[in-house]
Amino acid sequence: MYSYLPHIDATKLWQIIGAKSWRDLVAYIESIDKSTYERLGFDRLLTIVLDCIKRFGFCEGLKILDVGCNTGLFSISMAALGNTVTGLDNFVIDVQELYDQIRFPFINKISARLNLVKQDILEFCDVDTNVWDIILLLSVAHHWESGYAKSQTNKYTEAQISKVFNKLFTSFRKAIYYECPLEEPGFPFGYGYHMLQKYVNNFASYKLYEIEITIGPNGYLRQLLRIER
Ligand SMILES: C[S@@+](CC[C@H](N)C(=O)[O-])C[C@H]1O[C@@H](n2cnc3c(N)ncnc32)[C@H](O)[C@@H]1O
Repeated sequence: MYSYLPHIDATKLWQIIGAKSWRDLVAYIESIDKSTYERLGFDRLLTIVLDCIKRFGFCEGLKILDVGCNTGLFSISMAALGNTVTGLDNFVIDVQELYDQIRFPFINKISARLNLVKQDILEFCDVDTNVWDIILLLSVAHHWESGYAKSQTNKYTEAQISKVFNKLFTSFRKAIYYECPLEEPGFPFGYGYHMLQKYVNNFASYKLYEIEITIGPNGYLRQLLRIER
């Protein structure tokens, strides 16, 4: 399907978390597993970076919006790879203080390309005029119907959900990476896909590519799609 398998400097990704080898990386992941952190998803990050390179030939020099950036793992890593990234979250970014606690050798070098903003996506959509190469919508959209962690807090009306989806779906150039519940207690099977069908205008006109079944930050099965025009 792809004409070539491009080179990726994986050491850059290890360095992001301070690992110098796969052995360090495994030790790091094990320590995260034992901690109370929300699952980080380094595996999901690699899947997306590799898919982007396979599909577009590169994963650098892109303008990326990371909606619901949480710890900033995806935003920071994408900036470390040479992209310009805005990471947005309506809660304190990196409340777990992940990057205070691990040594992060890249952070000073990438600060000019990284913009982490504490703002709700609904407010952001009202003022944002950018066209993004890539939008990351990872394990976040389902919160708009049920509130964060199904708490009902910060949930949107159907009109607000529709407004956010349709603003994002008309503001990207290359792709949206969309990850949402596939099979998770409290959500109907295939919930993420059905949300798109329900809210995105002219949904049938978009091309959907199933990338992988992933394990989301809370450990449940997610569907990861690349969406293009
Ligand atoms: C389950 S976490 C996913 C984090 C990250 N995208 C990932 O996949 O690992 C969802 C994040 O989205 C944020 N969030 C939820 N609703 C949001 C909204 N309306 N605007 C901005 N951020 C939101 C939450 O605060 C939380 O940090």
